Amino acid sequence: MITFKPKIFKMGNIIRWGIAGPGKIAHKFAQDLKKVSGGKLTAVGSRSLDRAKSFALEYGAAHAYDSYEALFKSDEIDVVYIATLHISHVELSLLAIKNRKHVLCEKPASINKTELLEVVNAAKEQGVFYMEALWSRFNPAIKKVKELVDAKEIGTVNYLKADFAFYGLDRAEDGRLLNANLAGGSLLDIGIYPIFLSYLILGKPNEILARSKFHTTGVEIQTAMIFDYENAQAILYSGNSTNAECKAEIAGSKGSLFLPGRWHEAQGYQLEHNDNVIETALPTIGNGYTYEIEEVHQCLNSGKIESELWSHQNSIDLMELLDIVRAKAGITFPFEQ
Ligand SMILES: NC(=O)c1ccc[n+]([C@@H]2O[C@H](COP(=O)([O-])OP(=O)(O)OC[C@H]3O[C@@H](n4cnc5c(N)ncnc54)[C@H](OP(=O)(O)O)[C@@H]3O)[C@@H](O)[C@H]2O)c1
Repeated sequence: MITFKPKIFKMGNIIRWGIAGPGKIAHKFAQDLKKVSGGKLTAVGSRSLDRAKSFALEYGAAHAYDSYEALFKSDEIDVVYIATLHISHVELSLLAIKNRKHVLCEKPASINKTELLEVVNAAKEQGVFYMEALWSRFNPAIKKVKELVDAKEIGTVNYLKADFAFYGLDRAEDGRLLNANLAGGSLLDIGIYPIFLSYLILGKPNEILARSKFHTTGVEIQTAMIFDYENAQAILYSGNSTNAECKAEIAGSKGSLFLPGRWHEAQGYQLEHNDNVIETALPTIGNGYTYEIEEVHQCLNSGKIESELWSHQNSIDLMELLDIVRAKAGITFPFEQ
């Protein structure tokens, strides 16, 4: 684990956050940031000064900027949460890192693995913290399930099933979900979660099978995947053409673990042994983003440039798996051709 020389944070030890892109997810994040000790929102950057000011006012941030670059150059922040659309994650991460700001960037960290390697190398060179905001990794129920699997509580895992789907075909065709120029479609948006679960529990598969269906706008709207491992298989699905239960099941030789819907933000889990089911409630605090925020605080306070729970390599591996699925299913974006 590489460490950087810890910054001496201003305002005592309070970590000063900036948010780039005050959209839907940024609101949920800002609400949760208020619930975590050790950090506060001090600045917001938007393409519109009015939007930045109104968000800053709502969440008590002292500074508002009319561009993301102005935010990254600001001396008023230590770490930036990048909450813009998929296609800008790499460019903005690189710009923030260049300005020596620590970065928490929304998922997907990039559009492909090659771009992400550039970001990770830049963070290492600059000695700043970088993490993809893969919040489910820090969800208490998912963390516990991972611990139980590692402790062989359900024996050897041979089968995993996870899906994530919601109906989104009524959304605006130029919005981030249905617009191919914005890297729309279900896979990078929500398919990333079932793939993450399979990777977390079983690692990288030996082989991937994947098929997609496409919308009139050209974006992929259904993707079914089989991840084939030496002694296990995972059946994964993402889609925007219907709703789904969004449950996950992890089955082993001695029992099974179930994450109820929506599993990626689970509020508990079930452990089954010989038809005997024990249910454990683990409700999340706030919207559930508090845990990834705490992880960033812990890493910054101990001078780490990456998380041990969701490392640079974990994000690179996840992006590689998404690249393979896209290649198998024929998912491309206009800007890649
Ligand atoms: N972790 C989670 O649970 C979760 C949930 C939802 C989404 N996400 C991720 O968060 C990111 C943002 O999603 P969202 O639903 O919050 O998106 P959103 O509200 O549609 O947009 C977020 C912000 O991006 C900025 N933006 C920059 N260029 C834009 C463009 N060309 N068109 C529209 N907006 C643009 C806008 O801010 P300004 O114009 O004000 O600068 C906008 O407010 C996505 O990458 C998504 O995958 C994560």
